[in-house]
Amino acid sequence: MKDGKLLTLAIESSCDETAAAVMLEGRCSLSNIISSQIDIHKLYGGVVPEIASRHHLDNVNRVVGQAIDEAGVTFEDIDIIGVTYGPGLVGALLIGLATAKAYALAGDKPLIGVHHIQGHICANYIEHKELKPPFMALVISGGHTNIVEVTDYNKCHVLGGTRDDAAGEAYDKVARVLGLGYPGGPLIDKLAREGNPEAVQFKRVFLEKGSLDFSFSGIKTGVLNYINSEEQADREINTADVAAGFQAAVLEVIVTKTVRAAIDMNKDKIVLAGGVAANSRLREMFEEECDKNHLKLYYPSPVLCTDNAAMIGCAAYYKYMAGEVSDLTLDAIPNLKL
Ligand code: KG4
Ligand code: ZN
Repeated sequence: MKDGKLLTLAIESSCDETAAAVMLEGRCSLSNIISSQIDIHKLYGGVVPEIASRHHLDNVNRVVGQAIDEAGVTFEDIDIIGVTYGPGLVGALLIGLATAKAYALAGDKPLIGVHHIQGHICANYIEHKELKPPFMALVISGGHTNIVEVTDYNKCHVLGGTRDDAAGEAYDKVARVLGLGYPGGPLIDKLAREGNPEAVQFKRVFLEKGSLDFSFSGIKTGVLNYINSEEQADREINTADVAAGFQAAVLEVIVTKTVRAAIDMNKDKIVLAGGVAANSRLREMFEEECDKNHLKLYYPSPVLCTDNAAMIGCAAYYKYMAGEVSDLTLDAIPNLKL
């Protein structure tokens, strides 16, 4: 406790970020430490699960110690421990989970397992103090693309998801095809600003009428086919135009479906979350469409869009307040459903 307020220590290790945070009363972050492995995985063009696990193991105790120090508290002050237990890479999840269990056991503190996507949505509560459910959320990251109806802090319902690649995965794959490097999302975001989105057009994949699902695997092939045909014809490729065209196609589908879901389900707010929610064009398009349709739009700053532990601590707080505590047999679930 700090000044009579509940303190949460949270750990996140589902992919390639080893992260720990201390939260005060759920929505205020006293520290938010993120140790990124991006520079290591860059060498391989994507996350190598075995390498990720080893680095989590090397870093996790240091990151947790730093989170507690930076928050200006002691481990004894911590009331509850929140941790991501899925979805994610199983070896990576296990490191964070085993660490959280050890701290919970040693300090006799409640352990709260958190769904990673629930955490991403909660990132918005940290920055927007007035935000309350209900709302329509779009969780869009390297591993997930979901339209989620959020009816209460601990209640949500997935209305649609990707049938193949996640949106962030599509960004990363197209960036690789364009020779841009990893992770591709921020690089395409920047490059597309210099391109003309109309110059090279890609198919918008809306699927069946009324569906809130997505399919992004075809667009990577579309980009690849375009590059091959231009190369064969000996024409120069304008990568900025390709990046802008790719982004326009993907974002049109994402924005249209999310706004439609909000209107159809009588929601007056749209909440963006996940790494791709950091995308500047995505934010602009949502701003425009939400304005037109009288919807209020929320999104976190980029550091809370990508993986972090503050969002996990916030989700753990709401679970704990609802009496949802895990026991020490909690297992890592790589394909955990929401
Ligand atoms: O949420 P996150 O850190 O990890 C997962 O849970 O997957 O998201 C990482 C993903 C990567 O695919 C990355 O390329 C993408 O988010 N990303 C972006 C941007 N920043 C990160 N995609 C598009 N535009 C960005 N500015
Ligand atoms: Zn994530």
